[in-house]
Amino acid sequence: MDLLKKIDTTNLPKHLSIIMDGNGRWAKKQGFIRAIGHENGTKSVKTTIETCAKLGIEFLTLYAFSTENWNRPKLEIETLMKLLVNSLKKELKTLQDNNIKLNAIGNLEQLPKTAQKELQDVIEATKKNTRMTLTLALSYGSREEIVFAIKNISDKVKNNIISIDSIDDSIINEHLYTRNLPDVDLLIRTSGEHRISNFLLWQIAYAELYFTDVLWPDFKEQDLYEAIISYQKRERRFGKTSEQIK
Ligand code: IPE
Ligand code: IPE
Ligand code: MG
Repeated sequence: MDLLKKIDTTNLPKHLSIIMDGNGRWAKKQGFIRAIGHENGTKSVKTTIETCAKLGIEFLTLYAFSTENWNRPKLEIETLMKLLVNSLKKELKTLQDNNIKLNAIGNLEQLPKTAQKELQDVIEATKKNTRMTLTLALSYGSREEIVFAIKNISDKVKNNIISIDSIDDSIINEHLYTRNLPDVDLLIRTSGEHRISNFLLWQIAYAELYFTDVLWPDFKEQDLYEAIISYQKRERRFGKTSEQIK
């Protein structure tokens, strides 16, 4: 049965974010080295991006590399960075064909120069695209993002650019890497892990959470549809009573 028919396109998450997890276990299960898992993970990235654009999702944010992932073996980090550069080169056309704008969040200066350059090029080339904003979280850690925001805000207070009294949710939002993105509506994590792993802590305050046992390289259109159908069955009350929002 094609789950696509069950999706209400008038009630899509405006901002979908995904913790793409399970590449290593996927590889291990079939006796491959971890790199093969990452390579196959990029295929799921491509189908997910194309499917989201086709559905009409406006913002898709993918957790590709965390600040903590810098603690992995050097060789694995190199593999991931190479895959990033190659995918950006290879998929620029996919982004253009689908009218998708690329964005990146994280401590990007920590990335290898080649990756920074490729990212900048693709961001520049796609900046006028309007159908969907694809954000890659790279060298991203939510706590680090919040620390940066607090430092920036403090500096502005010290220099009398803003007053302490004016600090509110929106001032904080404006100082995060995600300043141009709306709050997350739906957060998906694959591979059966039930944790957030330092991803978008502020931005998921009222997100619906969806966990699936599917490993990232196996995550395909139908898995995405299942997650969206689950999202659409939920009542988002934002603190109110059920009666109030009916
Ligand atoms: C997700 O898969 C990719 C990254 C974190 C970069 P993992 O590499 O974490 O795969 P598992 O969790 O070891 O299976
Ligand atoms: C989270 O996955 C980071 C990304 C998906 C990029 P990890 O596999 O690194 O998370 P933990 O360490 O299991 O929490
Ligand atoms: Mg993992």
